[in-house]
Amino acid sequence: MQKDLGEVMGLYPTPVTVVGTVLENGRVNFLTIAHVGVTEHKRLLISVDKGHALSDAAIAKNGVVSVSLVNREMLEAVDYCGIAKGAKEDKSTVFAHRFDELEKAPIIEKAPLCMTCRIIKTVEVGSFHNYILQPVHTYVQEEYINEKGKIDYASMKPILFEFQNLNYLETGAIAGKCWNIGKNYKK
Ligand SMILES: Cc1cc2nc3c(=O)[nH]c(=O)nc-3n(C[C@H](O)[C@H](O)[C@H](O)COP(=O)(O)O)c2cc1C
Repeated sequence: MQKDLGEVMGLYPTPVTVVGTVLENGRVNFLTIAHVGVTEHKRLLISVDKGHALSDAAIAKNGVVSVSLVNREMLEAVDYCGIAKGAKEDKSTVFAHRFDELEKAPIIEKAPLCMTCRIIKTVEVGSFHNYILQPVHTYVQEEYINEKGKIDYASMKPILFEFQNLNYLETGAIAGKCWNIGKNYKK
């Protein structure tokens, strides 16, 4: 029996990401963003509260960001980046990083996967700037690239987020093959 919880946003869990930017003062900043999505095969979305004024202004001005998936080893640092404010604390040393030609999208060296992205569109919804991003480079730890050259998310085990109980969830178990297990479906 289902119970109606009303207008509860139920679309969780979502991947936890760390978004990297370079603030106007030149300092690298990292913030945790879990309201993310896929908007098209080669486009993704990050939803940034306009209240994160320094980061939001930098993201908009730079026109580029990095978006990293995270694993369990990174979790404490990731959570810290979702608590600490770049306006008050220097988060630039939390993750060792480098840059590619996008210049203002810090690549987290130890992230299992890090995309450097260009902003192609901004959609304002309430107090959020939803940035639609196009990945330019996707850097993946070699151990998570399988023999077919594909990203192996089962062994990467990216961490997910849910807003009801404020938990991080770990992934890793394969439940079935897509476009395949349905073939056995019997009406
Ligand atoms: C698990 C988690 C998920 C978060 N997801 C988002 C999000 O999707 N959008 C957002 O604007 N802030 C999100 N935040 C909050 C920001 O990461 C947080 O306010 C951070 O301190 C902002 O950093 P800044 O002030 O340096 O920009 C999240 C925080 C946590 C811990």
